[in-house]
Amino acid sequence: MAHILLRHRDIPGIHKLDTYQAHGGYDALKKVVTELSPDEVIQIVRDSNLRGRGGAGFPTGVKWSFIPKAPGDKYVIINTDESETGTFKDRELSEKNPHQIIEGALIAAYAIGAKAIYNYFRGEFMDAGYAFEEALKEAYAAGYIGKNILGSDFSVEFNTHFGAGAYICGEETALIKSLEGELGQPWSKPPFPAIEGLYSKPTVVNNTETLCNVPPIIMNGAAWYKSMGTEQSSGVKIVCMSGHVEKPGNYEVPLGITYRELLEMAGGVAGGKKFKALLPSGGSGPVVVADALDAPLTYEGLTSFGSVMGSASVIVMDETVDMVWAARKMIHFFKHESCGKCTPCREGTFWMQQVLDRIYAGQGTEKDLQTLESVANQIKGKTLCALGEFAVSPVLSTIRHFPEEYRAKLKR
Ligand SMILES: Cc1cc2nc3c(=O)[nH]c(=O)nc-3n(C[C@H](O)[C@H](O)[C@H](O)COP(=O)(O)O)c2cc1C
Ligand code: SF4
Repeated sequence: MAHILLRHRDIPGIHKLDTYQAHGGYDALKKVVTELSPDEVIQIVRDSNLRGRGGAGFPTGVKWSFIPKAPGDKYVIINTDESETGTFKDRELSEKNPHQIIEGALIAAYAIGAKAIYNYFRGEFMDAGYAFEEALKEAYAAGYIGKNILGSDFSVEFNTHFGAGAYICGEETALIKSLEGELGQPWSKPPFPAIEGLYSKPTVVNNTETLCNVPPIIMNGAAWYKSMGTEQSSGVKIVCMSGHVEKPGNYEVPLGITYRELLEMAGGVAGGKKFKALLPSGGSGPVVVADALDAPLTYEGLTSFGSVMGSASVIVMDETVDMVWAARKMIHFFKHESCGKCTPCREGTFWMQQVLDRIYAGQGTEKDLQTLESVANQIKGKTLCALGEFAVSPVLSTIRHFPEEYRAKLKR
């Protein structure tokens, strides 16, 4: 099947405007501004059941419908922070198929009546950001961005912004604060960005991959999109396969495919070794073991295994991986990335790191193991943003699945 998002793999040079246009590029934008009202656009996206690809899976059309209809300043933000461990799909899209993201964001701006679009890039994504800016220049010159787009009443400006490489700035409210030039720390919702977002104005924040789905949905219709995937998880998803697989990389697949099929696509476990576990959503989702391999890749597919699809950054671990080492590595990451605004996350990640370091060094006791679980459980559900939840996931799930590996390290 031809790719819907990773189209550069079928059409070389699609990052250039002339090639993109030669393959139907910006036809969706033309259709929207000449034939459809903003409400009709929102309805199509709602009917398609497109859900956010940034991790939480919130229905995109529903999110757009929350934006107040009254005229005034409104914004669209593309979230290309992509700091999740093992995630590299938005980078490939931005570098290789940038016009489809631009077109998707323009359609979002038309649907909600935004006057400006910002693309927030992770600080390290210089290549992707510069490639995107080249495409932006072409789109401006062709009249797809700016005043009275394609002769319509629709006018919008488009800017890029580079963060400073902080994981927390992928969280939408921290991202907004960072974009405003303030310290990138989340705020307690409500107010939601749809009501009070950038500069306290209604704002839609969407993941890069989410917006990339919009032009094909407009051109082919909601029913076409819903014909792929499952009832609750429609369409296609880019899965980032990494870790101990033969062929790491991005794979565009219909939702509903199993984790076993994904593993086979990526060439199986590297070096013919045995499968041990996988992280389905980078470091932020609980570890699952072999019994989850036949679960479908959907928003709800891993619920009964105590985990989540998230942004679908699948990190595979073979039989040689020390799970205490893996949990320790992840808690170091989250402790480092905690923004420090709320106590359970700031202090809890610090203490989890201390205790895990001690256990890993062979100096831990049974009491330490209990402390680790107790601290993790005191963070769960008590933090301002989801980073706190993310931080405890690898620790609690590795203790659950591999208690013997922790016990084997305790001081005798
Ligand atoms: C700690 C943290 C980091 C996040 N990082 C990202 C990110 O890098 N990219 C992203 O799109 N969403 C990220 N999110 C989710 C965003 O807050 C937001 O839900 C998303 O951008 C909405 O877009 P979507 O509805 O299209 O998925 C993160 C959330 C949290 C709590
Ligand atoms: S949970 Fe952590 S990252 Fe999120 S606001 Fe609190 S301290 Fe900051």
